[in-house]
Amino acid sequence: MEKGARYKLKIIENVSLKNLNTFKIDVKAKFFCEVTNKEDILELSDEGFFKKKWIILGGGSNVLFLDDFDGIVIKNRISGFEELLKDEEKVIIKANSGELWDVFVDYCVTNSFYGAENLSLIPGTVGASPIQNIGAYGTEVSEIIFSVEYFDIKSKSFRTIEKSLCEFGYRESIFKNDLKNKTIITSVNFKLSVKPNYKLIYKPLSDIFADKEKRSLSEIRNKIIEIRTSKLPDTDVFGNAGSFFKNPEITPDEFERLKREYPDIVSFKTESGNVKISAGWLIEKTGLKGFKKGNVGTYNQQALVILNFGGAKGNEIIQFSEFISAEVLNMFKINLTPEVNIIY
Ligand code: FAD
Ligand code: EPU
Repeated sequence: MEKGARYKLKIIENVSLKNLNTFKIDVKAKFFCEVTNKEDILELSDEGFFKKKWIILGGGSNVLFLDDFDGIVIKNRISGFEELLKDEEKVIIKANSGELWDVFVDYCVTNSFYGAENLSLIPGTVGASPIQNIGAYGTEVSEIIFSVEYFDIKSKSFRTIEKSLCEFGYRESIFKNDLKNKTIITSVNFKLSVKPNYKLIYKPLSDIFADKEKRSLSEIRNKIIEIRTSKLPDTDVFGNAGSFFKNPEITPDEFERLKREYPDIVSFKTESGNVKISAGWLIEKTGLKGFKKGNVGTYNQQALVILNFGGAKGNEIIQFSEFISAEVLNMFKINLTPEVNIIY
């Protein structure tokens, strides 16, 4: 039922979210609308929607709905890019939050702006990119973020937060913590290099692109796309939200203990001096890579990805994930933390 008469925005009731979340969970939103500009957000605020239950969705690629959503689901379609500044060193691009992330990366590569290319093909929107500080293949988005613009629900005003205040960390930011459920990100300002500047920490990239003659932004983008499509499942085939858990960080002492018992453990040193362990490796070691129970299972090529083989309920996925983390805890005494946002 449409309530077009009362609102300028089109608010519809009882909308299926199955095609709006990549886990393909078949739940409904009590109310649903799409926003295309800042005025739409102000209208939602004026009409009191933020006083009740609400959620904004980008691509739905990092959420797990447990049940029907008894409030308003706001689908972000605020689009557009704008070049704010360009000099011999850098360019500052304002990208509106409803743009698809990979459309933004493609725009950067096409215009020879350096810094986003390693993050090619990550699903979702520009607006969600700062929330968990998306990362892949040796780069995190915080490295190219200049500032983030958002609507502050409480004060009903639009604000800008500088990168230094965003508290970015591994899959972390202020938006997942102090500002959670208090803001709607409307755009992100990115600072990119206009001079060649490649990030080749990830070994398969440095192996191929060590030779300067072979490097170009589009070559790197294509390589990343090739790696990702070979490693990660297609959400159109199996519902999933990428890595279900974060890679856990442990102290050097804990790592020494594990290394003695499991010499082949896959790990990376972090800047803080701790050690990040591959959660995929931990799960594989418990024997649960490719394990399936009912409609849910781990991907047989990447144990960190949980798949909905069709028809799974959110709770079934949660129970499965709890079984996985209990097995890891039992074997390694390491707690796995979900990366996916669980929506109640
Ligand atoms: P959604 O899932 O729609 O939302 C995620 C959370 O952010 C929700 O809580 C939502 O309410 C909130 N949110 C969304 N937009 C806004 C906004 N404008 N303002 C305020 N809050 C907002 N992630 C990585 O970091 N690296 C990877 O390599 C990676 N690979 C993936 C591969 C696959 C196959 C899949 C399915 C996912 C992968 N992800 C990866 C996870 C996911 O793509 C990212 O977390 C992405 O940023 C989510 O974007 P989204 O627009 O889909 O967010
Ligand atoms: N590994 C295993 N078994 C597995 C999976 C991985 O042993 O089943 C080991 C292998 O040694 C492999 C290593 O772990 O070489 C790393 O695996 P991969 O390159 O797939 O990366 P990851 O650590 O599992 C992280 C991110 C991904 C990101 C990739 C690439 C997290 C939680 N995940 O995965 O991000 O794309 O690195 O940089 O940090 C996401 O966040 O949704 C996501 C997909």
